[in-house]
Amino acid sequence: MNPFHSVSLITSNKEMLGLIERINRVADSNSSILIIGETGVGKEVFADYIHRLSNRGQNPMVKIGLSALPAELMESELFGFEKGSFTNADHSKKGMFEMAHTGSIFLDDIDDTPLNIQAKLLRVLESNEIRHIGGTKPIHVDVRVICASKVELKDLVERQAFRQDLFYRLNIVQLRIPPLRQRKEDIPLLVEHFLKHFAKDKKLDVSEEVMSIFTEYNWPGNVRELRNVIQRASLFAENEITLSDLPDDFSKLHNLDKLIKECYHCFTSGKMDMKDVIRCLEEKLISEALTNADGNQSEAARKLGMKLTTLRDKIKRLNIQI
Ligand SMILES: Nc1ncnc2c1ncn2[C@@H]1O[C@H](COP(=O)(O)OP(=O)(O)OP(=O)(O)O)[C@@H](O)[C@H]1O
Ligand SMILES: [Mg+2]
Repeated sequence: MNPFHSVSLITSNKEMLGLIERINRVADSNSSILIIGETGVGKEVFADYIHRLSNRGQNPMVKIGLSALPAELMESELFGFEKGSFTNADHSKKGMFEMAHTGSIFLDDIDDTPLNIQAKLLRVLESNEIRHIGGTKPIHVDVRVICASKVELKDLVERQAFRQDLFYRLNIVQLRIPPLRQRKEDIPLLVEHFLKHFAKDKKLDVSEEVMSIFTEYNWPGNVRELRNVIQRASLFAENEITLSDLPDDFSKLHNLDKLIKECYHCFTSGKMDMKDVIRCLEEKLISEALTNADGNQSEAARKLGMKLTTLRDKIKRLNIQI
């Protein structure tokens, strides 16, 4: 089966392709997989990919976000409960582990699991048995565990916020997904992919300027942030996504970036010495702050992080036209 049919995992990055290669080798084993990566890098995409590729791919994939659940609910969600086991339990309910039987369970934000649940998880993983809350008989479960963490679980182990034995049990195969800023070659591919997704009929493209801004930006929200930017821009743009279709932050960043490049050019070409470059940069930053503040000097001073009197001195000294 070609896994790309069911899950889009777009990449041309060597490290990412290495991860896929490793997954291809371990998908069919039942070993637990720990996926580590910043927010939005594609941890869930990888989890889906692993499940689909494995020989459990046609069986259930059950996902549970452990940070979204209060601790009391977590246990009943994971392991189920018997009728009458607590107030309001007027029926019995299967837990996620039972629902994932013969398939995989995706434990998202495993780093947010409270210690008492960690102990119970470990017991289930060691015995392949669960017990409903309020239940007495053990229930056999055959489940492949894939979990995701935003932080180094090992650090949590050192700080005693995560059980070492559970860490070893989960960390059989570890996949580290690099942030988007470390695999910029993926940006054009992802842009194309999201454009196809969000603007199928529009035949949209992105301008060269926008693509170069995308490549320079550091994407703290990773692929999710890029996806959102493309989704938003494709609503407004007609033939081409240009700078004006991007959130304001991008044009501000772009202006600053351009300014710094100009300064660098003036300096390296020998046009200006360091003193002149700094004077020119200062003048430009102050002029821009004044323009953005509609000439209001107090506001411009606040934005520049300087006293009003300092700003006034500089305006005079640099001969800035207001
Ligand atoms: N390599 C990729 N190819 C295609 N789409 C991707 C890729 N990586 C991420 N995405 C998309 O980016 C978005 C975020 O991905 P995902 O939800 O897997 O991130 P995450 O690491 O689980 O984030 P979080 O830590 O915030 O839960 C999703 O819409 C997903 O489809
Ligand atoms: Mg996720």
